[in-house]
Amino acid sequence: MSPEQRPSIVIRRPDDWHLHLRDEALLEAVLPYTADVFARAIVMPNLVPPVTTIAAANAYRDRINRALGAGKTFRPLMTCYLTDTISADEIKRGFEQGAWVAAKLYPAGATTNSDSGVTSVDKIYPALEAMQSIGMPLLVHGEVVDPDVDVFDREARFIDDVMQPMRERFKDLKVVFEHITTAAAANYVFGADKNLAATITPHHLMINRNAIFKGGLRPHMYCLPVAKREHDRQSLRIAATSGDRRFFLGTDSAPHIASTKECDGGCAGVFNAPNTMECLAQVFDEEDALDQLEAFASLNGPAFYGLEPNTDTITLTRQSTGISAPDPVVVGDEVIKPFMPETEVRWRLT
Ligand code: DOR
Ligand code: ZN
Repeated sequence: MSPEQRPSIVIRRPDDWHLHLRDEALLEAVLPYTADVFARAIVMPNLVPPVTTIAAANAYRDRINRALGAGKTFRPLMTCYLTDTISADEIKRGFEQGAWVAAKLYPAGATTNSDSGVTSVDKIYPALEAMQSIGMPLLVHGEVVDPDVDVFDREARFIDDVMQPMRERFKDLKVVFEHITTAAAANYVFGADKNLAATITPHHLMINRNAIFKGGLRPHMYCLPVAKREHDRQSLRIAATSGDRRFFLGTDSAPHIASTKECDGGCAGVFNAPNTMECLAQVFDEEDALDQLEAFASLNGPAFYGLEPNTDTITLTRQSTGISAPDPVVVGDEVIKPFMPETEVRWRLT
């Protein structure tokens, strides 16, 4: 039987190479959705205040592990939030001590809690120099913040204005172009010679920008970088299902309390942790590429980070009808609403 016809598939347990776990009550509420499925996750540092020191990263990891409880095998991989004034020595020591595995570049003002981010890449040259010398990956939110640049063009502009000049200067720096959303970014990664990889989210593989406006404004389809055109989504599908080792899963699952999204100035972020693997199986099935799902979700990420893939497995089973949307996640008096595409998802994690 070809993989495309199989009623179920077994793949190595996946990892999530880009995740927002938040803190306190939100952390407690969302963590199980990731920890029950994924073995490891790269945890984003955009807390308030951001995770900029070894002490803060260690304390955050402790809070995550406490929220996990006993008997869970999930391992959080911490990251350092880059600021204009961050010390290269702290970054290096944190990597060597295992406090963090990578550093995150948020252009200041690009997205949620990025106000303390980097105003100009030249400010962090000493940090990038240090990271290059120790093989520590740089994770990049790749959007320019210039308000004169159209929001749908900000990723493509970032490639020319920031990414390429930075990579030319730091040729041996390992870079992850995070949550790519455009054909331009996918093609840029395909064309790069070395040291560049990209994460792709389930939602950018499933929706285009029409979903944000369908039948009215749809705040739960709004994230940053914002979903782009259908042509871009098709390019992301080609990249994700290609088997090319430079593309791997980063969910960018970014929970927000519903009332903070369903309002004027609502927050960016799609909470997809409850159905990531179901959505991905659907996408790979539609592309006749189920045999590439393991590479994307479970093999390419660890290879980039120099880690072993997981040895345990998960099973996804084809359903005869579409699965329903995950229930809202209750946090005190509020809820978080999970992502659900309008198109059918016929796979279930079993
Ligand atoms: O949509 C997003 N939400 N994009 C980001 O870059 C940050 C994230 C968040 O933290 O909510
Ligand atoms: Zn993110």
